[in-house]
Amino acid sequence: MRVAVCPGSYDPITLGHLDVVRRAAALFDEVVVAVLVNPRKSGLFTVPERLAMLDEVLRDIPGTRSAAFEGLLVDACRGVGAIALVKGVRTAGDVEYETPMALMNRRLAGVETLLVPADPRYSYVSSSLVKEVAALGGDVDDLLPPSVAARLRDRLAGRG
Ligand code: PNS
Repeated sequence: MRVAVCPGSYDPITLGHLDVVRRAAALFDEVVVAVLVNPRKSGLFTVPERLAMLDEVLRDIPGTRSAAFEGLLVDACRGVGAIALVKGVRTAGDVEYETPMALMNRRLAGVETLLVPADPRYSYVSSSLVKEVAALGGDVDDLLPPSVAARLRDRLAGRG
């Protein structure tokens, strides 16, 4: 069993994330989409809410599942038996940001990191930008899975 982890905040998952997960699922036997809990950072959605949104979209991608972890990412990898991390990179800046972490994670636990270039359709998409635009009334529906777009609309309208 070759297992990979796709880590992130997923607050919420975007179509850019989902594209990376699909591509990882084509390469590995199992992909764990891991919500990394940062106890000092409260998001728009709680971790259980993020997991529920993930579960809904991952149902359609065989060999994937969601999980939440606190602490070091490599400990999460050890916990699920992952040999690799898979992350999307949108820009040269992303590569620069990810490279030291990739090398550190390899040093800490021998876990390799695969940086996959973001699909050009999503190369400017981030959860934070999507949330900012949506909060100001912009339309971001085509950048999110439909179920997530609906949840985001409800949250920003104060409907739950
Ligand atoms: O979606 P994000 O916010 O860009 O994800 C960042 C994340 C969660 C992947 C990153 O912050 C992370 O790896 N956190 C885990 C803590 C850790 O292991 N840090 C050391 C990395 S070398």
